[in-house]
Formats: sequence, structure tokens, C-alpha cells
Amino acid sequence: MTVSEEARKAAVVAMKVPGQIRASECRFLYRLSRRISNVVEIGCLHGRSTAALVQAAKVFKADVTSVDPFYVTPGLKQQSSPEQWRKNLEAVGLKAPNLLAMESHAAAQVYEKEIGFLFIDGNHDYEHVREDILDWAPKIKVEGVMAFHDMFMPHISGVAQAVTEWWLSIFDIQNVTWKLEGMTDFTIAFRRMK
Ligand SMILES: C[S@@+](CC[C@H](N)C(=O)[O-])C[C@H]1O[C@@H](n2cnc3c(N)ncnc32)[C@H](O)[C@@H]1O
Repeated sequence: MTVSEEARKAAVVAMKVPGQIRASECRFLYRLSRRISNVVEIGCLHGRSTAALVQAAKVFKADVTSVDPFYVTPGLKQQSSPEQWRKNLEAVGLKAPNLLAMESHAAAQVYEKEIGFLFIDGNHDYEHVREDILDWAPKIKVEGVMAFHDMFMPHISGVAQAVTEWWLSIFDIQNVTWKLEGMTDFTIAFRRMK
């Protein structure tokens, strides 16, 4: 099976889990996280993105950690919980990965491994996304990738603001430390070069 076929198959499974990301984004996450290294996601909710990541991680037996305090999300009909998240994954034949049921800032203080793929989809306020970048980007290894959901989503300005500010602060054409890896729908990814 080619990686594209694998990604398509994984997205079909992931889309059976309730969630907010699209099938195209599940395929993108699958391709980016299919690697020999630690994978972390911030904000797992019902587990759709988790489902894409754990399937990719299986290929090289990579370690996946999900971070979410499982706050009640205003306006969301169906709230989640660690139990619900686990059940949703088991319902599609997947084993839930490690869980840090806490805010990402607290998780960053206890997560000590080097990261190969990081998916940020937690609190979308500018201050929180900025803090996520400050806390987590230094943990990403060279050649590792950091991706954000809800970039340029019209009613969510915090992600675009914090990511653009970070990109402008590190961009140096003479000394490329991060490279834009690509964007699929509302998911944008950057690869660490140094
Ligand atoms: C948009 S949802 C994630 C959607 C999920 N990735 C999917 O595939 O459907 C955002 C999640 O971030 C969590 N969250 C909110 N504040 C957080 C924080 N400070 N740290 C980590 N997660 C947070 C919420 O509990 C919620 O489950």
C-alpha cells in the first residue's frame, strides 16, 4: 500500500470519530506524523485527530501523547472526557495513546521528550497559541514538524495572529531555522531546519 492509500484509509477511520477536523486534514496529519519519533497533540476533544495520529504512529511504533484538560466547551452539544475520548477510539478499533489531562502549559513542564510531530489544536486565543509556541516549539527536533489547526479560520483570529507573529520573528532568509511545510484546508505545518 502506498502512503497516500494508507492516509486515505486512516482518514476514513478517523472520520468515524466525532470531531472538527476534515478528512483532508486527517490525511495531512497522517502523512506528517508517520515517522520514527514522538508525536504530541494539544487538544484532542472526542479523538478525531488522535485517531489519525495513532494510526500513523503504529507504522514505526512511535509514542503518541494527547494533551487536553477536557474543559466544557461553550456551545458544544456533545462534551468530551478522558473516558469518552478513549471509548470513541476503541469504537473504531484503536487504542488510546498516553494522555496528559491538563492544560498544555502544565503539560509542557512535565513532557520531557524530543518531539518529531506536534499538532496544536487547543485553546485558540492569541495568548494561548503564543504560549503553546513558546512552550513546545523548542522541544521539536531538527526535521520535526509543528502544525496548527484553524489557521485563517475566519471567526478565529488568535491562531493566525500568534502564528504569523512567530513566523515573522524567526524568519531570516540568510539563516533558515523553520520552513513552511504546507497547508491543507485550515491546517498549516512548519518544519524545523536547525
Ligand atoms: C478544537 S478542539 C480539538 C479538536 C480535535 N483536535 C479534533 O480532532 O476534533 C479544542 C480542544 O482543546 C482543549 N483545550 C482548551 N484549552 C486547552 C489548553 N489550555 N490546553 C490544552 N487543551 C486545551 C479543549 O478542551 C478542546 O477539547
